[in-house]
Amino acid sequence: MVSDFAKHYPVLLNEIISIITPQHGGTFIDCTFGQGGYTKKILSYKNTQVIALDRDIESKKEADQISEKFRDRFVFKNKKFSQLENLKLKNENIKGIIFDLGYSYTQIKDPIKGLSFNAIGDLNMRMGINDFSAKEAINKLSAIELEKIFKFFGEEKEAKKIANQIVLMRKKKEIDTQSLVEIIDRTKKKKNFKTHSATKVFQALRIFVNKEISELITGLISASKVLKKNGILIVVTFHSLEDKIVKYFLKSLSENKSISRYVPKVDQPETLFKMLEKKPRTPSVKELRENIPSRSAKLRYVIKKDNFYDFETDIFKKFKHLIEIENFGNKL
Ligand SMILES: C[S@@+](CC[C@H](N)C(=O)[O-])C[C@H]1O[C@@H](n2cnc3c(N)ncnc32)[C@H](O)[C@@H]1O
Repeated sequence: MVSDFAKHYPVLLNEIISIITPQHGGTFIDCTFGQGGYTKKILSYKNTQVIALDRDIESKKEADQISEKFRDRFVFKNKKFSQLENLKLKNENIKGIIFDLGYSYTQIKDPIKGLSFNAIGDLNMRMGINDFSAKEAINKLSAIELEKIFKFFGEEKEAKKIANQIVLMRKKKEIDTQSLVEIIDRTKKKKNFKTHSATKVFQALRIFVNKEISELITGLISASKVLKKNGILIVVTFHSLEDKIVKYFLKSLSENKSISRYVPKVDQPETLFKMLEKKPRTPSVKELRENIPSRSAKLRYVIKKDNFYDFETDIFKKFKHLIEIENFGNKL
């Protein structure tokens, strides 16, 4: 079957459904609603409820249509998933929380968002609920700051050279999407014929502008608190940096002692989560054939062992160097 490229293809949908088993009903949180691919599938099972979040207000159009059909089983909030804990969900029996990170096909294709190096015009890259744009970052940050963003968020090997060229060129003219692509293309010596030369810098800028590192860490911590006993936390990632953070978080809370020392010792589990599968799930050959962008997707999940909300994690410390880079944006 050929996929419909006007729509977002919900990645690893069958795997998600087989893990969260909405056939048995329950309340689920879809932290990255997008075009509602997961939400619609979950709601197709009786006795299910979905609380959906998305930082992009464009998602509300699709959400409004779902609301009409499932008025009493669906609620949408235009919020970031780092705000999950503010939703006052303490008394809800949340059975599963899903994060499908990255961008939907419609966002990448939206010229106003300027997420792609094929976009014409302003460097924007704001997904929604942001403090600054990529244009401000590129035109205002120092060469060293830009270098660190490209190196650590994009794993760009020629980060320093590109950053220096940007600082030189912006003295003549403000940099937009096309001029940034040109600078990267001109500066990079080592060309990779499989990927566009601007891919890594654009990835780095998207992560920086949307504060994706602190969003992800705060989102994971909040989700771990909101879940109830036997609740499932599922995360789909699309690049190695995201996966490294998710893997560390889920693994460390499944293997090391993670329950706070303030919790009474009686009947207390040693770890917050149980991890049934150490290796991530990846798309099937069939899915890869139908949806090429799914090729980098990795799905990891854990099950919460008990109703504990007070746990210890060193995740912020572990990725402190990345948070420090993200904080360059505080002055913009
Ligand atoms: C890959 S798409 C999700 C697609 C969705 N699973 C579907 O099937 O239609 C990712 C979505 O997450 C949203 N998103 C990314 N970061 C977010 C955050 N920190 N808080 C809330 N939504 C976020 C994006 O705006 C985008 O709509």
